[in-house]
Amino acid sequence: PVLVVDFGAQYAQLIARRVREAQVYSEVVPHSMAVADMLAKEPAAIILSGGPSSVYDDGAPRLDPALLEAGVPVFGMCYGFQSMAQALGGTVARTGAREYGKTDAAISDVASTLFDGQPPSQTVWMSHGDSVSAAPEGFAVTASTAGTPVAAFEDDERRLYGVQWHPEVLHSEQGQRVLENFLWKGARITPEWTPGHVVDDLVATIREQVGEDRVLCALSGGVDSSVAAALVQKAIGDQLTCVFVDHGLLREGEAEQVEQDFVQATGVDLVVVDARERFLEALAGVTDPEAKRKIIGEQFIRVFEQAARDVVHDRGDEEHPVKWLVQGTLYPDVVESGGGEGAANIKSHHNVGGLPDDLQFALIEPLRTLFKDEVRQVGLELGVPEVIVWRQPFPGPGLGIRIIGAVDAERLAILRRADAIAREELTRAGLDRDIWQCPVVLLADVRSVGVQGDGRTYGHPVVLRPVASEDAMTADWARVPYDVLATISTRITNEVEEVNRVALDVTSKPPGTIEWE
Ligand code: XMP
Repeated sequence: PVLVVDFGAQYAQLIARRVREAQVYSEVVPHSMAVADMLAKEPAAIILSGGPSSVYDDGAPRLDPALLEAGVPVFGMCYGFQSMAQALGGTVARTGAREYGKTDAAISDVASTLFDGQPPSQTVWMSHGDSVSAAPEGFAVTASTAGTPVAAFEDDERRLYGVQWHPEVLHSEQGQRVLENFLWKGARITPEWTPGHVVDDLVATIREQVGEDRVLCALSGGVDSSVAAALVQKAIGDQLTCVFVDHGLLREGEAEQVEQDFVQATGVDLVVVDARERFLEALAGVTDPEAKRKIIGEQFIRVFEQAARDVVHDRGDEEHPVKWLVQGTLYPDVVESGGGEGAANIKSHHNVGGLPDDLQFALIEPLRTLFKDEVRQVGLELGVPEVIVWRQPFPGPGLGIRIIGAVDAERLAILRRADAIAREELTRAGLDRDIWQCPVVLLADVRSVGVQGDGRTYGHPVVLRPVASEDAMTADWARVPYDVLATISTRITNEVEEVNRVALDVTSKPPGTIEWE
């Protein structure tokens, strides 16, 4: 792998993604990892990420010079660039002058390894206080900016490179090409991390891991569990059984997508449990959001456990009981929890609605090396239907937490129709990939007066909650064009009799969460 050494400022994951976009496999490791342990991973190259503002800060992470002497190509970015300069005998000056945001970099050597084939001037994104004032011996200075005379350097002999800016952010217009030059020319890595290659790799790993055992997967209809299931299916075929719990809180067409399209495309062995009545009964009269979530989570576990027992009973011959449970854990979860097995597993349970630890299965997490966009590419490669691959996030408790008030079958039917209209129009307007998601919320206990035809109505409002987001941690309300909103509003009030008012939620997160409950 290419190791991205995380100096602790959230750039490392983005860098790792950019490396993968250059079709090279990458992993994030903490800066605290011993050099011997890093080298034990046999890295093809090492990238030092950005980090705290100054190498002089108390407790600033230090770079062990041994990492630069191992003969492995190294690329330092921002803080990584400065710590590299410092470790190799260059000078880092506390200029006190901060350079922040977009700057023009003048490339003094367009034939250099990093800048080969690029224009002599490029916009770069800077964020630093200190500056490298003298490059270490043996290095050629290859770029400068108005505020930073030494903005890039390289020692092609030792294959050590660095830039003061952040090539991983999109504001650095040649950033990806700089990174590719390092990987492909500097480190001489062959780009072969393609979806096809990833699938072959993971299939081989799963086969080795699972052997002849039986495997169970809780399918939610979401991207992650669907792609994980398709991958395991490709690896071990009918040793896999998927369980889909229909809790009745799904949107229009979702159960069918899983039951028909997904099964047809992948050939998985699917058990559908119709638990709609059971969930409705448990939810009857409950209005408190946390109480709803708890009930839905608990019911889910019970239904799944029962289904698991049935599967074992019906399909597992005595010699091959179910040993494994598939989880759709992604790489960001693994990195965020420190890469520790235990921590990652606790998180991943949330993916299937909080399955308990005592399920007695070992976990198989085929997507734990992948980012979300890679999961989608792998899904396409495996032939998972596009409607599933490009699905926007949908919460485990489903429409249950989008009805403000008690949940019942009638209210679910109203919301399902309004939601289907909103989704249809947003798709028609080509907005699916611009919008992170657009919950439609039914204010079931609110009524307002309206007029339709010649008559007075006394119906319910629905709220549209379109948001733009990168990761759902923060979000802004999405500026959906007025004419699209008008069409949605007109159609919902015309076609869903019980709804006579459509409102738009214009709250960012924070302070509002994306879902209303
Ligand atoms: P909030 O409402 O916290 O939502 O801003 C952030 C993101 O998480 C989704 N969400 C859930 N997903 N189980 C899930 O799998 C849940 O219980 C759950 N609650 C919220 C929400 O749709 C948004 O994408």
